[in-house]
Amino acid sequence: MASSLCFLPFLLFVLSSIASSSSSTDALHGSGEAEALGQDLYRDLLRDEAVSRLIELGKISDVDGYLERTFLSPASLRASKIIREWMADAGLRTWIDHMGNVHGRVDGLNASAPALLMGSHMDTVVDGGKFDGALGIVSAISAMKVLKVTEKLVKLRHPVEVIAFCDEEGVRFQSTFLGSAALAGILPATALNISDKSGKTLHEVLKEYSADATEDSFVQLTYNPELVRGYVEVHIEQGPVLESAGIPLGVVKGIAGQTRLKVTVSGSQGHAGTVPMSMRRDPMAAAAELIVLLEGLCKQPQKFLSYDDDCSTVDSLFGSLVCTVGEISLWPSASNVTFTIDLRAMDDLGREAVLYELSARMYTICDKRSVSCVIERKHDANAVKCDSELSSQLQLAALSAFRKVAGNVDVDVPILMSGAGHDAMAMAHLTKMGMLFVRCRGGVSHSPAEHVLDDDVWAAGLAALAFWRIKCRTIGYVPLFQRAYQMYSVLVSCIYRNGSLFISVGKPL
Ligand SMILES: *[C@@H]1O[C@H](CO)[C@@H](O)[C@H](O)[C@H]1NC(C)=O
Ligand SMILES: *[C@@H]1O[C@H](CO)[C@@H](O)[C@H](O)[C@H]1NC(C)=O
Ligand SMILES: *[C@@H]1O[C@H](CO)[C@@H](O)[C@H](O)[C@H]1NC(C)=O
Ligand SMILES: *[C@@H]1O[C@H](CO)[C@@H](O)[C@H](O)[C@H]1NC(C)=O
Ligand SMILES: [Zn+2]
Repeated sequence: MASSLCFLPFLLFVLSSIASSSSSTDALHGSGEAEALGQDLYRDLLRDEAVSRLIELGKISDVDGYLERTFLSPASLRASKIIREWMADAGLRTWIDHMGNVHGRVDGLNASAPALLMGSHMDTVVDGGKFDGALGIVSAISAMKVLKVTEKLVKLRHPVEVIAFCDEEGVRFQSTFLGSAALAGILPATALNISDKSGKTLHEVLKEYSADATEDSFVQLTYNPELVRGYVEVHIEQGPVLESAGIPLGVVKGIAGQTRLKVTVSGSQGHAGTVPMSMRRDPMAAAAELIVLLEGLCKQPQKFLSYDDDCSTVDSLFGSLVCTVGEISLWPSASNVTFTIDLRAMDDLGREAVLYELSARMYTICDKRSVSCVIERKHDANAVKCDSELSSQLQLAALSAFRKVAGNVDVDVPILMSGAGHDAMAMAHLTKMGMLFVRCRGGVSHSPAEHVLDDDVWAAGLAALAFWRIKCRTIGYVPLFQRAYQMYSVLVSCIYRNGSLFISVGKPL
């Protein structure tokens, strides 16, 4: 990490002297502390309006009774329209591209400078929840609206763009990230030929959607990496870590790599009463032993992997390695058992080491039991690391947001791994990316039970706002310093990086 955290007591002095000189001005305007607090936290926009928008979006569904919004479905088109209105309401210039992604952009002071992108997805799984994806879109728009009402939007030093991606869950075409992959330039031309359940190809669906779309127009969607400075996504955690830590926000260090395996165990079918135990080749018992092996290995990789020269691999595996048996089936009859393994880890070499060890030990078990085993590798995706600079800025932003909501407490913002894929994974091919996770109840997602507390929605909006201010510091340091008197907490920390000083202060930031 190129940046280093430091504490600068002298800045404290500077800020407090400004504070004492400007507090009299403040008194003239008669704004009390409580009022300043309310204004500073933008509860009406970042919490109340954001929550009501999430509820409104959560009602836009293709079916009655539960939430389902898939790529370019009628409900998705209605959702796009509303999201676009919210973007316009936040002072952004809006458009919808040929793929159905909704964009809202503000040029700031230099329209030709590289833009900072922020967004998430607007599609859902079948019977999904109203926060997955939507929270990232709504909190980004709310933060922009605060910049608009405080007249900061026009003073941004470079363009900022909020994007609502059309497809992340991949329900309709079983192919995830259609929207972000198109912008990142990694959507293969062959994707246009995949078809949905009704037999319509992606190409046909896109043609229907925008009549003037050609194959070229999809290529033209790809962003020029030189005109982008980064991508940031706010998303629900979809796991229980933040809830158990009692903290609403966490910073993502990376998205795990993944391997899917299919294991077939073939034994022989025999009569349950007549084949003696010594002569059995029972695939079911063998599969059970293999699954228990998998669990043991993933719980305690250090017990299974040797690491003579490099123990960092095992260290990094520790805590990030997760393994799951998805489906298990007996086919045909009882002589063959097949099951799938989903294995994820932050460290790609570590994942390979686990796969190597796992398959060697599995084959040994199969030999011992005289069953024949086939392990097929069905899918691989490498891990994606978040950018360290964006992550440390998000960490400061999260800390600032948390302190605004919870008081000046001392807390470490958790650093998490994302086990699930996100648009950020596709965007990482275009630009550096960072992610912020928001606590969700019970870690539950992809379900109507998915829930984020109103105050956590607020914290997410405050963090997005703090992030914009750290990242795209508006021109004019004087107003920032003038507002230093509003500080309830003292200077938190600063990052000194290549001659630029990023200051994170307690209340106003
Ligand atoms: C605007 O940004 C571009 C690209 O970064 C840069 O070349 C140009 O000098 C900037 N213009 C101003 C006025 O700062
Ligand atoms: C899509 O399918 C058509 C007809 O089957 C074929 O001619 C075309 O080459 C395919 N395109 C791609 C990009 O695979
Ligand atoms: C068990 O599965 C293997 C591999 O898929 C297959 O070759 C074999 O025919 C199956 N056994 C039976 C009894 O069908
Ligand atoms: C920061 O400084 C280092 C060394 O001086 C340089 O290699 C790096 O490119 C700089 N980074 C930025 C973002 O300017
Ligand atoms: Zn999602």
